[in-house]
Amino acid sequence: MTRYEFLKAAGFSGASLMALLSCVKTDDSYVEALVQNPDGTTGTTSATGTSSGTTTGTTSGSGTTTITGTTTTVAATKADSSVFISTEALSKITPKITIDLKSTTYSKLNTLGGYLVVSNTYVIALSKTGKFIAATVTCSHEPKKRIVYSNEEWYCTDHGARFSLAGKGLNSNGSKGLTIYKTATDGNTLVIY
Ligand code: FES
Repeated sequence: MTRYEFLKAAGFSGASLMALLSCVKTDDSYVEALVQNPDGTTGTTSATGTSSGTTTGTTSGSGTTTITGTTTTVAATKADSSVFISTEALSKITPKITIDLKSTTYSKLNTLGGYLVVSNTYVIALSKTGKFIAATVTCSHEPKKRIVYSNEEWYCTDHGARFSLAGKGLNSNGSKGLTIYKTATDGNTLVIY
């Protein structure tokens, strides 16, 4: 017999029954209660046992839900992630310049084929194949700061010198080649060295 059935059989009903049920913890194994007999006299009754069951229903409300778990670092670039190195490895490189790829200042490097000139010295691009590349912005034909990234080449807008991405001259004005820099990134920081 369950506790509920027992208390019902003992004459409890309504609020008194609910009060008794609510003041007993589910792990109680012994119950002694004052009862009122049908003839008006009172006495005590006891029962042993355990109770169990399930509660169903819905809850509603508003507020903030906090979900905890592991944090995933999302790369701040569309670069080919296969070339990413660890942040620790990146920190061991002595950079000529460090770029925060999360900064809107360098948002052009979040577009395949985008490039920009940094410190009036380096032209840095995210190639159309998703690789960061960097070269001097100063042409080797004449010291003009006119090198841009174009059609998977470095190109001087002054007299049309062309250079491969590796810096090799591709025409007469580009015959002296172009200084190229190495790049490395962990997906959020880019270093030129
Ligand atoms: S200065 Fe670049 S091609 Fe002449």
